[in-house]
Amino acid sequence: MHTLIVVSHPDTASLTHAIARQVATGIQAASMDATVEIADLAAEGFDPRWTHGDIARFTQAAPATPDVAAEQARLDRADALVLVYPVFWWSFPGLLKGWIDRVFTQGWAYEDDNAGGKIVKKLQRLKVHLVANGGADQGTMDRHGYRSAMTTQIDHGIFDFCGAPVLSSNVLLASDDGYPAAHLHTAEAIGRRIAGDMPSTSR
Ligand SMILES: Cc1cc2nc3c(=O)[nH]c(=O)nc-3n(C[C@H](O)[C@H](O)[C@H](O)COP(=O)(O)O)c2cc1C
Repeated sequence: MHTLIVVSHPDTASLTHAIARQVATGIQAASMDATVEIADLAAEGFDPRWTHGDIARFTQAAPATPDVAAEQARLDRADALVLVYPVFWWSFPGLLKGWIDRVFTQGWAYEDDNAGGKIVKKLQRLKVHLVANGGADQGTMDRHGYRSAMTTQIDHGIFDFCGAPVLSSNVLLASDDGYPAAHLHTAEAIGRRIAGDMPSTSR
């Protein structure tokens, strides 16, 4: 089983990166056969800007640009995808949004069957785990409905749309008991459950 962990944060000393490393540690501790790649979008210099090349791909006038095709190829090699990111404005950072915008293309992630009026979901084989970390407290999340807004937009709006099952979805908060060390334990546990191919909490 191969897992691709995608990290969207420029600072390798951040909690986000520490969480990503702990997820990888958990996977490898739980399974000798499991392989893991951490894709550090910032370090790799992924360009999140939507381009004319992306428009041509979207309208099926041209194949994917080489950078997008490379990202799709590495997703094709993965059985599981883990997104690790800080909560920015009750969503994820622009770098990760641009990665989704550009890589999860029509034709690869889904097919808009205009004739039948149906969306063909093409990522049913890809198991998804979401690990966000935010500065807010749980009360704020609950009071304003931010958690359910994130679930609707990200879990459902992106991954369910493409047919990729979201097996776990966590928002780790600064107000949680034992922050930040507890989140590193949680991250390792998420990794162990990913290796066991099981849903890993709160969903
Ligand atoms: C631009 C920006 C937007 C943010 N928006 C939110 C937010 O909407 N909700 C939240 O809980 N925290 C928000 N935060 C706080 C970050 O989620 C928090 O700093 C992060 O969890 C820290 O992790 P790190 O060490 O990996 O950067 C925001 C931070 C920044 C810089």
